[in-house]
Amino acid sequence: MKTTDIYLEGKSIFLRSMQPQDFGEPMVRWVNDREVTKYLYRGTFPANAQSLQDEFHNMKGSMTDLQFAICLKENSQYIGVTGLHNINWIARNGEFRILIGEKSAWNKGAGTEVLQLMTSYAIDILNFNKVYLGVNEANVKAHKSYLKAGFKEEGRSRQEIFRNGKYFDAVRMSLLKGEYLEARTSWPLWETIQKQLSV
Ligand SMILES: CC(C)(COP(=O)(O)OP(=O)(O)OC[C@H]1O[C@@H](n2cnc3c(N)ncnc32)[C@H](O)[C@@H]1OP(=O)(O)O)[C@@H](O)C(=O)NCCC(=O)NCCS
Repeated sequence: MKTTDIYLEGKSIFLRSMQPQDFGEPMVRWVNDREVTKYLYRGTFPANAQSLQDEFHNMKGSMTDLQFAICLKENSQYIGVTGLHNINWIARNGEFRILIGEKSAWNKGAGTEVLQLMTSYAIDILNFNKVYLGVNEANVKAHKSYLKAGFKEEGRSRQEIFRNGKYFDAVRMSLLKGEYLEARTSWPLWETIQKQLSV
């Protein structure tokens, strides 16, 4: 991967735009891996390169969905995807999503970096007033990184998710622009973000 592909940069990862080939391997492996999709809507039906290519074509040119590839800075390895979805350009909000598919990259802070980069991008560059997300109540790790970034719980949809024979609440969380301006100064990544976005 050429370094000119870097769009946003954290300490250990960078984000770049997605190419058609990103919707083949290794993404097929990630979305068919039950451990990766344990808490997601994805994974309920089997995926293959064609179904992912169809997804890419549907999303291409979309005015309401934006996706980025997550890559490791040390070797440019593509480890996951993130995005802003269901963007409402009037109310100025959108839904944050993330999937780190390479399990070797879990628990090293990458997910937290991506969340903070994408939130800053949404608010400082796209002029969002709010970033929201949905998380399975049992996804303790994701929930923790959202709380740490300053996201607040808006409410719970009771027994909204059915996974492996059990129902789970879906927790909706969000961060408003004013809250972001306060929270970001305590983010370890803030200095890195500030330099890049000139904010
Ligand atoms: C959820 C996900 C984004 C988290 O990214 P990550 O890079 O693995 O997580 P981080 O390293 O940023 O860790 C987040 C926090 O959770 C903590 N954590 C890790 N495992 C944990 C566990 N089992 N229980 C509680 N906390 C845990 C980490 O210690 C860290 O907190 P800290 O910074 O205070 O140490 C990533 O694992 C992923 O994409 N998983 C599959 C798809 C998914 O679940 N997406 C989220 C949908 S809402």
